[in-house]
Amino acid sequence: MKDFVFSNTTKVYFGKNQLHHLSEEISRFGKKVLLVYGGGSIKRIGLYDKVIDELKKADMIIYELPGIEPNPHHTTVNKGAAICKKEGIDVLLAVGGGSTIDATKAIAATAKYEGDDCWDIISGKAFVPDNLPIISVLTLSATGSEMDIGGVISNVELNEKRPIFGPTLRPNVSFLDPTTTFSVSAYQTASGSVDIMAHIFDVAYFSDQEEMDMLTRIQEEVLKTVVKYAPVAIKTPNDYEARANLMWASSWALNGFLFSGISQDAICHMIEHELSAFYDITHGHGLAIVIPKWLKYILNENTASKIKRLGVNVFGVDPALDSMDGANATIGAMEDFFFNTLGLKSRLSDLGIDDKNFALMAKKSCAPKGKLTGFSTLTPADVENIFRLCL
Ligand code: NZQ
Ligand code: ZN
Repeated sequence: MKDFVFSNTTKVYFGKNQLHHLSEEISRFGKKVLLVYGGGSIKRIGLYDKVIDELKKADMIIYELPGIEPNPHHTTVNKGAAICKKEGIDVLLAVGGGSTIDATKAIAATAKYEGDDCWDIISGKAFVPDNLPIISVLTLSATGSEMDIGGVISNVELNEKRPIFGPTLRPNVSFLDPTTTFSVSAYQTASGSVDIMAHIFDVAYFSDQEEMDMLTRIQEEVLKTVVKYAPVAIKTPNDYEARANLMWASSWALNGFLFSGISQDAICHMIEHELSAFYDITHGHGLAIVIPKWLKYILNENTASKIKRLGVNVFGVDPALDSMDGANATIGAMEDFFFNTLGLKSRLSDLGIDDKNFALMAKKSCAPKGKLTGFSTLTPADVENIFRLCL
């Protein structure tokens, strides 16, 4: 296994009685805060008022940027950065799901950039080593943005969705209160749960690199946690234990620990990001459609035993099956979980997507190397075939 460095500097307040620490935490960073949030869910659940009370307690000067889109737009990020520069903002406060936290990360970096377009940084034209401090209050268990170093931003003019990364983009402090996710719809709970699982599959579990057995075992336990609690949260949205398990699973799936020593393309994410770039679909739903078809496409004598191991240890597949039958049974069990238990639609055509952009999307998903590498190597032609299997 490869040598690695592990450091995760996000301070996490987890639980239902923690938000009162927001005032003391935020005041460490200055006086002027830009509060960033989405389309209004935080007002509907009463969280906005609680956050404002905390900010007032700390005598903060409050500026607001509402309206962060799911699959956040780079133009909205630019609006936020402009406010930061004009008003001399000291700290950013993201209250919402992954889209809000991701947009806040991009704002934090663009605020330190002499230009005014975040796409310069995201496209690699400009390098900005610094950013404003970030505090997040998470309201949806899915992306891991609350403890990770990345964000994903869409440029709707170019039909592109690209990541922004940087060690200092990890939130300085994150508040994780499972009760704030009671109001997340069954659809978003299902999609978010698939996203958590997909992070484990994509960044570590399905890898061509040697991994520490301890980490593979823990990955399976986190996956089992999602398999156990996602259906409970869908059926009983106010089940604290289910919501708490999903929330902490989301953070640990992508905070760096589980993929210590592994570095590879997140293949299904690269493929899915093209779907949400072109069609603005929900990220986790796109992954649910892509992952089983990807596994079917790459199933061979080299990949079968790891796929079967997943089935045996996470989905209850019969260990007595041979590798190939076990792998096929795993893919079947995964589809059953995503589409029957979680209730997600199983085909791209169900989401109104046809094949007209597949060739271009496949090419873009493989950029800049011209291929995707990891557990399998995929060319643009392979990715196009996978899109067709998903139709
Ligand atoms: O906008 P509001 O009104 O807040 O509503 C949101 C939105 O409509 C709603 N929602 C959030 N919390 C809620 C709630 N509704 C009721 N009650 C609550 N407590 O849910 C909808 C989806 O929100 P969004 O933030 O888009 O979802 P998610 O957290 O799944 O984030 C998805 C974005 O994150 C990116 C995805 O590509 C996508 O753009 N990702 C970010 C990653 C990262 N930072 O490392 C990694 C992931 O792989 C992913 O790519
Ligand atoms: Zn994801």
